[in-house]
Amino acid sequence: MKAFTIWFTGLSGSGKSTLSRRTYLEIRRRGLAAELLDGDIIRTNFSQELGFTKRERDINVKRIGFLSWLLNKHGIISVVAAIAPYEDTRQINRALIPNYLEVFCNCPLEVVERRDPKGLYLRARKGQIPHFTGISDPYEPPKNPEIVCYTDRESIEESFSKIISYLEEKKLIPAQPLTNLDLQALEQEERLLREHLRHLGFATKEWESLNP
Ligand code: ADX
Repeated sequence: MKAFTIWFTGLSGSGKSTLSRRTYLEIRRRGLAAELLDGDIIRTNFSQELGFTKRERDINVKRIGFLSWLLNKHGIISVVAAIAPYEDTRQINRALIPNYLEVFCNCPLEVVERRDPKGLYLRARKGQIPHFTGISDPYEPPKNPEIVCYTDRESIEESFSKIISYLEEKKLIPAQPLTNLDLQALEQEERLLREHLRHLGFATKEWESLNP
């Protein structure tokens, strides 16, 4: 089975983190090596110095692309959740990574703004967050995403099974779990790793919020 990068792109609050996490855990449950690269976590432990201008987002997105390429080269699947708002930069990653696929978490701005789980849209509307995607900064919808999830009208389960079916059809993951790993064991393993990181002074708050 060949390694691949699956990139979840979309507005803040469009479901990228939730769906990518479910996908990542399922891939691991099927016995494959995978890493989850979530925008919020990458930005607190890997791209701390970067803001949100086009130049800085491009560096961030290409950095994640390069890291994914390195992981894939050694057989590790990369599951990415990052806004990556610019088509040209996403295309650079597509050209770099041999098996690259995009999941467009397509959700209208008015819906994510109503949800506003982190209260960021409200602050952005008040002018407190410059360069905020969808408000004062652009989001260019992908031109050729492999999968589109309409996260305003599909349930998480529906979107998730669309993604898994696609990966199974393309023979990127085995149809059946090859391990007896269960989700609880995986979650526990990750909790212990986070604990270790926290003791060493790494930022893990964003991680905690990803867990149910
Ligand atoms: S990207 O454009 O470089 O791909 P990324 O996905 O890493 O963005 O980071 C987006 C996260 O940063 C959002 O989920 C949100 O929590 C936070 N954030 C802070 N400021 C901004 C901003 N100006 N625009 C978008 N997201 C922001």
